[in-house]
Amino acid sequence: MPLGNVNMDEINPASNLPLLAVVTGGASGIGFAIAQVFLEKGYRVVILDNDEESGGQAASHLRQFGDIAYIACDVSRPEESERVVKQCIADWGRIHVLVNNAGVLGPAELLSADDEDLVKVIGINLIGSLCMSKYVIQHMKLTGGGVIINISSIVAITGSPGFPCYAVSKAGLVALTRSLAHKYARRNIRINCICPGSVLGTHLLSKSRGFDALPQERLELANKIPIGRVVRATEVARLAFFMASPETAAMTGAIVVLDGGETLAMDNVSYGEPYRSDRR
Ligand SMILES: NC(=O)c1ccc[n+]([C@@H]2O[C@H](COP(=O)([O-])OP(=O)(O)OC[C@H]3O[C@@H](n4cnc5c(N)ncnc54)[C@H](O)[C@@H]3O)[C@@H](O)[C@H]2O)c1
Repeated sequence: MPLGNVNMDEINPASNLPLLAVVTGGASGIGFAIAQVFLEKGYRVVILDNDEESGGQAASHLRQFGDIAYIACDVSRPEESERVVKQCIADWGRIHVLVNNAGVLGPAELLSADDEDLVKVIGINLIGSLCMSKYVIQHMKLTGGGVIINISSIVAITGSPGFPCYAVSKAGLVALTRSLAHKYARRNIRINCICPGSVLGTHLLSKSRGFDALPQERLELANKIPIGRVVRATEVARLAFFMASPETAAMTGAIVVLDGGETLAMDNVSYGEPYRSDRR
């Protein structure tokens, strides 16, 4: 296998061991799109999600694109990460790609937030990615390497007055990426990070922007993003696939912003806050 890479030659129907991608939070939104793109490109995919109903439905829908499995898992519980990684290895032999995508927005206010909710956000967004990385890297070290992709956010870089705990968890993913990428580069394990801006059609964007209540804001947001529209989940998914491909064999520890220029116009958009005059 070429250094720092997943060997695409293994995507071969005759091979005993096709490439396997594990996607956390794959039941909806960006994770669902990532699962679909990897399936379309010939990977087997396992989606992990704590929402059993959506997870089952997602797997049923995605089956038309390839070999998909759903495993119920709450990534904030370290013992569950260990269990599912073992199960994937037992059932499929090898994990080539891990996408740490599961995430929640959490409380908008730090000062009035329930302490439990603060712990929950860090538990899902950060501890979940730490523990999944821990158990998958233990495996990848023994099997010749692989690729890990962490789904962070632009708020890791900009901060977010509207969702500070979320921003802290996402900044942690940047540090996780840079730390582990350095540590395991010679082990043929590449670790990269995507920082999306607002992504269309996701629960998370609806929650952060209150789109259900304020549909007009959808248009306003699009107008304020330099490319004139909101990024699509499939665009994040294609970047994730690219990061796992031989085309990016030299890319590790990279923090890639995919936001349609949203951070360029941050004064206009101010992620995580309603961008209306009544903002306090
Ligand atoms: N939507 C955006 O605008 C946006 C922007 C930047 C970053 N992101 C990041 O992208 C990732 C995907 O978010 P999305 O926008 O698709 O949101 P989403 O809510 O549609 O999807 C998140 C998925 O994670 C799952 N999940 C939540 N808690 C979990 C847990 N404890 N264990 C396992 N699965 C769990 C949910 O059930 C859901 O299927 C998140 O990490 C999010 O922070 C999203």
